[in-house]
Amino acid sequence: EKGGWSSFMAKEVAEQPEAVANTIRGRVRDGAVVIPELDGLDELFIGINRVIITACGTASYAALVGKYAIEQWARVATDVELAHEFRYRDPVIGDDTLVISISQSGETMDTLMAVKYARERGARTLSICNTQGATIPRESDAVVYTHAGPEVAVASTKAFSAQITALLLLGLHMGRVRSTLTDTTAVEELSTLPEKIAQVLAEENEHVSQLAGWMADTRSVLFLGRHVGYPIALEGALKLKEISYIHAEGFAAGELKHGPIALIEPGQPVFVIVPSPRHSALIHSKVVSNIQEIRARGARVIVVAEEGDAAVLPFADEVIRIPLAGAMFEPVLAVVPLQIFAMALATAKGLDVDQPRNLAKSVTVE
Ligand code: M6R
Repeated sequence: EKGGWSSFMAKEVAEQPEAVANTIRGRVRDGAVVIPELDGLDELFIGINRVIITACGTASYAALVGKYAIEQWARVATDVELAHEFRYRDPVIGDDTLVISISQSGETMDTLMAVKYARERGARTLSICNTQGATIPRESDAVVYTHAGPEVAVASTKAFSAQITALLLLGLHMGRVRSTLTDTTAVEELSTLPEKIAQVLAEENEHVSQLAGWMADTRSVLFLGRHVGYPIALEGALKLKEISYIHAEGFAAGELKHGPIALIEPGQPVFVIVPSPRHSALIHSKVVSNIQEIRARGARVIVVAEEGDAAVLPFADEVIRIPLAGAMFEPVLAVVPLQIFAMALATAKGLDVDQPRNLAKSVTVE
């Protein structure tokens, strides 16, 4: 079933253009996002004043990207809550709240319990799921499926890019229904996403794998990001922990001076996800100055930056390029080299990338 691939993870990383294309297919009509599963369910999105996205692990990082997209396009306050934390306090939710759950398997017990709890409290519920007919969608008022195809490797890759895609679609759908969406460029850009992912795979696979090979003895790797790059930093760190058993941490770049910069010593590898200067010169310049700060303390800086961004060159030891994309689309591109890095590093250490120790594909106990 692996075809010619060395692992399911390698196969699934490579399948991302298809996973994203399949998730978009049939959901764009006459220049607008119209998700057929949500036909007749406009009332889910009107009259709400709050969205909570709940999930665990990688799905919770997709949720963080979703927060930016939904707030920007649908203009409704959106928060992300880890499913296992959400239920064990007394959250302020009711019929003015939409609780969106995200789960590849649709069987994660923590997430399922959060959905049930939200329903009991009278919230509206919608799930984003990769498995047809799974328990979580059955317990929700509505479902938007990701069409990533079966994901076998324990470390989630193509399901993650499909989850972000589904959240972008949902944000655009909600923006249309709520009449808050003014910018149509994002809808137009959707169809270009699969080929851009394919470009990252084609152009960076060898470079990043080589880099990982050189770094096989590394004991700790840090990841920094800002805005929608922040969840990608978290995801890059999780991938590395899960399959290569290396200590890794992701930080919001702005937090550096509030503590984590103390970790920087000569030779410390740090990945930095650099947002495009075309979206916000300010955010970009803040990240570039973060890079300068860590470089001055001897960090080994590996940047993920868009093609043509020359501002990073004087301070980077390695530059990984991604194609130009809208702000909300960059995460789907920036995560790809981090997945490849984790996989190549685990392989260099002789580890089984598909079946990491202590982990199960689907966590069906609380
Ligand atoms: O099936 P789910 O999406 O609900 O799973 C959630 C997490 O358990 C999952 O994303 C986990 O973090 C992965 N192993 C990450 O690679």
